Amino acid sequence: MAQQPPQIAIIGAGIFVKSQYLPRLAEISDLVILKAIWSRSEKSSTEAADIARKTFPNVECKWGDDGLDEIIRDSSIVGVVVALAGQIQVDMSLKLLKAGKHVLQEKPAASSITEVETALSSYNSLHSNSCTQKLWAVAENYRFEPAFVESRKLVSEIGDTMSVQVIIEGSMNSSNPYFSSSWRRNFTGGFILDMGVHYIAGLRMLVGCEVASVSAMTSHGDINLPPPDTISSLFQLENGCSGVFVMLVSSKSPKIVWRVVGLNGTVQVERGNKDGQHGYLVTFIGGKGETKSTFYPFSGVTEELKAFLSDISMATLEKGGKIEGEGRYSYVEGARDVAVLDAMLESGMKQGAFVKVKKI
Ligand SMILES: *[C@@H]1O[C@H](CO)[C@@H](O)[C@H](O)[C@H]1NC(C)=O
Ligand SMILES: *[C@@H]1O[C@H](CO)[C@@H](O)[C@H](O)[C@H]1NC(C)=O
Ligand SMILES: *[C@@H]1O[C@H](CO)[C@@H](O)[C@H](O)[C@H]1NC(C)=O
Repeated sequence: MAQQPPQIAIIGAGIFVKSQYLPRLAEISDLVILKAIWSRSEKSSTEAADIARKTFPNVECKWGDDGLDEIIRDSSIVGVVVALAGQIQVDMSLKLLKAGKHVLQEKPAASSITEVETALSSYNSLHSNSCTQKLWAVAENYRFEPAFVESRKLVSEIGDTMSVQVIIEGSMNSSNPYFSSSWRRNFTGGFILDMGVHYIAGLRMLVGCEVASVSAMTSHGDINLPPPDTISSLFQLENGCSGVFVMLVSSKSPKIVWRVVGLNGTVQVERGNKDGQHGYLVTFIGGKGETKSTFYPFSGVTEELKAFLSDISMATLEKGGKIEGEGRYSYVEGARDVAVLDAMLESGMKQGAFVKVKKI
C-alpha cells in the first residue's frame, strides 16, 4: 500500500497564505493532507479554512493558545508552514520544532543578525538534546526558481566573474496588498529587509559565492514608505569579484535584473511576462557575442513545497536519525541572506562605512 501523504498545518492566515500557499497546495493536493489552519483570531482562521476546504474538505480551523496547543499535541501533524509577522516567526518556529514538528518558515529567516545568531544557537541546542533533529527550512523560493537553477549552470560557463550588477526598482505602492501590512512597517530595515532577502538569495545563488563585505548608502525618498526605502551598495565577493546592489522599494518603472559579467560571457536574469505568465527571461551572451534567451515562468513556491513534503515524508518513513533535507532552503541559507542585508543597512547608518558580512 502506498504511504499516506504527510499531514501538515499552516500557522498563519495572512495575505501570503491565502494568495499563495493555499492555491499552490491545492495544485499538489495528492502530495499532502492539510489538517489544520491556525491564526491568532477565530475570524481569520475561519476565512482561510473556508478557502482551503474546497480542496481539503476535512481541514480543521484552530485559533488562539488552545488551538495552537491542539496542533502541538496532534502527533499526526508532522510538519507545519509558519507564515506570521516577521517579528514573531522565529519564536513560533522554535516552539514547534521543540514540539517535534518539521518547520517551513516564511522568510525572512529572522529580523536581524542578532536574532539569527540566537535562533541558530537555540536550534542547535534542541539538536544536542535529541538525536532526531527536526527540519527547519526557510521559504524564500528564489533558490527553487527554474530560472535561477538554470542561470547558475550558465554562470559556470562564462569563466571568472569580473562584475555583478543587481538592480531592483520595486513597485510597492498603495495598489500592492502588502503596502499597508503593519508588521512590515514596524520592521528594522522596512521593506528593504523583507523584500531584499529574495534578491540577495538570487545574487548568492547566481554567483555561487558568499558576499564578504559591503559599503552602502541608504535614504528615505517616499514618505509613504517606512525608512529606508532606497539602498545603493557596493559589495565584494569572497572570490574578489565586486559588484553593485541597488534597490528602491517603490518606483514608477518596475525593473528587476541580475547581471553577471565573466571573462568569457555574460548571464542576465530579468523579471518579465510572457504569454500572460510572470517569470524570468534568462539571457546568455557568449564569448563570440552569440545570444540565447529563455523564459522561465515562476514555479519556485511550488517546487519548494514539494521539496519540503518529500523531505518530511522521507524523515517520517525513516523514523529517527538526522534529517539532511534540501540544502537550498536550510535555515543557514536564509540566515546568510539576512546577514548581507544587515551589513548593508549597518553601513548605510554609518554613511557608507566598510562593513564585513557576518559569516554564518
Ligand atoms: C575562455 O575563452 C578563452 C579564449 O577565448 C578559452 O581559451 C578559454 O578556455 C575559455 N574559458 C572558459 C572557462 O570557457
Ligand atoms: C502601482 O504599481 C503598479 C506596477 O507598476 C502599477 O500598475 C499601478 O498603477 C501602481 N499604482 C499606483 C497607485 O501608483
Ligand atoms: C512594533 O514592534 C515592536 C518590537 O518588535 C513591538 O513592541 C510593538 O508593539 C510593535 N508595534 C506595532 C504597532 O506593531
